[in-house]
Amino acid sequence: MKNNLCQNKKMCMFGVSLLILTLVVAAILGLLASPTSPVTWALIAVLVVIPFIHKKMSSNQFVEWKDEYSVGIDSIDQQHKRLLNLINQLQTAIDYSTGEQFEREALDELVDYTKTHFTYEEGLMRDNDYPDFEPHKLQHEKMFEKVREVLSEYEQDQDTAMTNAVNYLKDWLINHINGTDKEYSSYLIGKGVK
Ligand code: FEO
Repeated sequence: MKNNLCQNKKMCMFGVSLLILTLVVAAILGLLASPTSPVTWALIAVLVVIPFIHKKMSSNQFVEWKDEYSVGIDSIDQQHKRLLNLINQLQTAIDYSTGEQFEREALDELVDYTKTHFTYEEGLMRDNDYPDFEPHKLQHEKMFEKVREVLSEYEQDQDTAMTNAVNYLKDWLINHINGTDKEYSSYLIGKGVK
């Protein structure tokens, strides 16, 4: 994964920028000195391909809604979709090094909306006497415990803490939405929840 290959994001971006700049300069010099040289055109080809590689690597970081994630309850599906959008927003903030303030705002928005969603979902389970309400609620609580733990590392290493937080939230939410949440589907639908 990109973030494992490049733990220090700012140094990594600087290194990539320097490499691209060197390639551009080399390609320009090549065109001036020897426009028909295969080396010159190889450099130009590399420069053309770089944006596609970057796009491909970035898209691997994002999460997409799939129909298989649906719990069959529209209000909850809509909230889950919003959660995935907020994860992608945070991933974008991290990928493009938008700065500490934007990253923290994106993370806070994701954490706040996750709390809103959990409160809504727990309300539905409690109001309908869902038998596995307590274990499900415990999973929600453990997730927040872990997020707090990851963020306590923030003062030591901001880049790594933020990357760890988004990776953890991404994996946890997808697994939870596509696993534990689905377990209440038929019960709540049977109670008339839409
Ligand atoms: Fe949709 Fe249990 O969170």
